[in-house]
Amino acid sequence: EKGTYPHFMLKEIDEQPLVLRRIIQEYQNEDNEIKLDPDVRQAMKDCDRIYIIAAGTSYHAGLIGKQFIEKFAKIPVEVHVASEFSYNMPLLSEKPLFVYISQSGETADSRAVLVQTKELGHPALTITNVPGSTLSREADYTLHLHAGPEIAVASTKAYTAQMAVLAILGVDTANAKGIDLAFDPMQELAIVANAMEAMADQKEVFEDLAHEFLETTRNCFFIGRSIDYYVGVEGALKLKEISYIQAEGFAGGELKHGTIALIEEETPVIALATQAAVNDSIRGNVQEVIARGANACVISMKGLEKDGDSFVLPKVHELLTPIVSVLPLQLISYYAALHRDCDVDKPRNLAKSVTVE
Ligand code: F6R
Repeated sequence: EKGTYPHFMLKEIDEQPLVLRRIIQEYQNEDNEIKLDPDVRQAMKDCDRIYIIAAGTSYHAGLIGKQFIEKFAKIPVEVHVASEFSYNMPLLSEKPLFVYISQSGETADSRAVLVQTKELGHPALTITNVPGSTLSREADYTLHLHAGPEIAVASTKAYTAQMAVLAILGVDTANAKGIDLAFDPMQELAIVANAMEAMADQKEVFEDLAHEFLETTRNCFFIGRSIDYYVGVEGALKLKEISYIQAEGFAGGELKHGTIALIEEETPVIALATQAAVNDSIRGNVQEVIARGANACVISMKGLEKDGDSFVLPKVHELLTPIVSVLPLQLISYYAALHRDCDVDKPRNLAKSVTVE
């Protein structure tokens, strides 16, 4: 099933534009309006706060989803790691809606929370790639990711699909609440799909970056501000799990509060600069680490680029940049793992779905 691809991970990275186009199709009616289960729409309208519960990469998608839902639909959102939520439950609002994000739909940590919140009588929506899965069956509502089977242990296309579906959900809720948005999610996602396709055709660029920055290193830092920070955290997870390079994602401004002590000569720091409002400040952080000897790899958005940036992303809507900016990070991780002879599709100690708590 890998076809001509050496690894499922590479195939799944390449499928991302296709998956986005499928999502656009599946979530649109003949009149080019958003097509969504009316019960989901109602549940989103009825709640006063959303609690996103997930693990790993799906948790990282939730951090981005919070931005979409708060910015578009104006509903407050909390994002929680499933394994922490059960025994450290925050004070809940009067009308919470629980949203479970899970590629497999089988993650035991998330299911444990679902059982608990159902007992409390709270409605649950599962966003999953496997509609017949446990989390889907046991929730009140399901939104399907339409990403197709994801075989590689490291999640790639499910993550970008999760963000796309969350963006559509946020805009749909805004529409249902009568909030006027000058934002057509389908049109913007189509632009994102094209951007991803263009980047996926430039693999040698990312292979070179993996060589240049990660060839021999034992560790790596990812920095970003605003939504770039969350993408950096996902980039770090990808790199760790498949290449075994110790990696950490940081908010650009937080680095100087301790972690900068770890920056030495040649330490790779991968910085994302896709947000106009924080472009100057993240650039400042890059200078701080360069001054301490770091090897800085800056990935910026077209229009915000500066001389010396390692890669400039094609322009997409500012809120949707995470879907685009993660692709270079996925490919850099892939090549870093490949150069180290790691088992890319089946990293040590990991299982595709974690069905124990
Ligand atoms: C990372 C990865 C894991 C999963 C996590 C949740 O690449 O694959 O971190 O994201 O185990 O899995 P799902 O989404 O199936 O609940």
